[in-house]
Amino acid sequence: MNMARESWASKLGFMLAAMGSAVGLGNIWRFSYVAGENGGGAFLILYLISVLVIGIPLLLVEVSIGRKAQSDVVGSYEKLAPGKPWYLAGFFGIGASLLILGFYSVVAGWSFYYFWNYLNGFFFNEPQEGYGPAFESFTTTLTQPLIWHGLFMVVTILIVLSGVKKGIELANKIFMPLLAILLIILAGFSLSLDGAAEGMRFLFQPDWSVLSDPTVYISALGQAFFSLSLGVGAMMTYGSYLSSSHKLPGATFGIGIMDTLFAIISGVVIFPAVFAFSIEPDSGPVLVFITLPSIFNQMPFGGYVGILFFLSLSLAAISSSVSLLEVPVSYLMRAASWTRRKAAMVSGLIIFILGIGASLGMGVLAGVTPIGENNIMDSMDYIASNIFLPLGGMTMALFVGWHFTKRTALEAADLSGTGLGSVWYGLVRYIAPILIVIIFLQALGLF
Ligand code: PHE
Repeated sequence: MNMARESWASKLGFMLAAMGSAVGLGNIWRFSYVAGENGGGAFLILYLISVLVIGIPLLLVEVSIGRKAQSDVVGSYEKLAPGKPWYLAGFFGIGASLLILGFYSVVAGWSFYYFWNYLNGFFFNEPQEGYGPAFESFTTTLTQPLIWHGLFMVVTILIVLSGVKKGIELANKIFMPLLAILLIILAGFSLSLDGAAEGMRFLFQPDWSVLSDPTVYISALGQAFFSLSLGVGAMMTYGSYLSSSHKLPGATFGIGIMDTLFAIISGVVIFPAVFAFSIEPDSGPVLVFITLPSIFNQMPFGGYVGILFFLSLSLAAISSSVSLLEVPVSYLMRAASWTRRKAAMVSGLIIFILGIGASLGMGVLAGVTPIGENNIMDSMDYIASNIFLPLGGMTMALFVGWHFTKRTALEAADLSGTGLGSVWYGLVRYIAPILIVIIFLQALGLF
């Protein structure tokens, strides 16, 4: 059965969906905890370099492969390189998307839980034991976080199986600007706290000594990939629903810059508060779930801000999770001729099961540390973000840089006959892959 492939209603629809995919928990939750663990300012600079030199050029690569092939992540490689092993990279992408959404959904479930607790007024005042311990006792229980994780997956599945256009596009149009406005207000408030200066110094004044730690580089690279939704095929799949009449370079640049702004502003919200409330910046994935309520607690009308904030954050998470689920779904619909419904439900169930491990790793399975001292969630995140995504992105760069002719590559990216085209092509063909290899070797201690 070969039904007509779906497509975006307009270029704006694509832009919104791609921005929705990029802006999510990665900008607020992940950015702040990874920046906190990696010493702040120097990490921020490495992250910005990764975004500009590798991330944004590869975003254009990924979207242009999808648009040219008009197929899912495996199908795109098969179509553009028949009989060659490139398609294997597509399966890697599917694996990474399942892995990421597995833990992403657990964290998004926490966001739902916070929204709910603000909505019913429960978090308007600091719980007796404090926000930190309250969060810990929630995440270490067995079933509660799983219920919220399941609820989040159900919502994601429902949106994906009804087609992305109406629900997600509309919600993004309202809630992304709302999230941006709230973040800016919160940044202003955070800056007024005692101790704010210390937080700003942490974020913006590089302490170069952290650069001697080899994990900082790979963390910055991984964060750039994660935040831009690169390397799993989500942007490729979204690009495949785009027709060739729309120009890509401006669109991808805009998406990259927007995404980065969201991250920086959320850093300005979180770090002043981290220092004002004497929280350790390297507290890990729990960081924002402790700092934010502490900020809201001190603000006039903070409880209401909390409602709006966690609603926006939850919706930003949904618009990202939808793009992750779309990766296996679009593959299964084509390759296995499954209906959208069946593909979304089966993939969603697998992801839910993967997430159970991540969730229990916060409590009963806290002793299980697959990688170094990382619990299950951090290990899933580490493998997916710092290894699978950069590898996936590098494969895409090599595909466009070496499998395509220069002419095909520039045409696919709408950069023919421009000076910018040669710069981009050089970055994609040489610079980005070489940098990624160097960062990998260095993380392995070989460089
Ligand atoms: N970019 C999303 C975020 O920042 C997460 C994501 C990663 C989405 C990879 C799709 C693919 O929350």
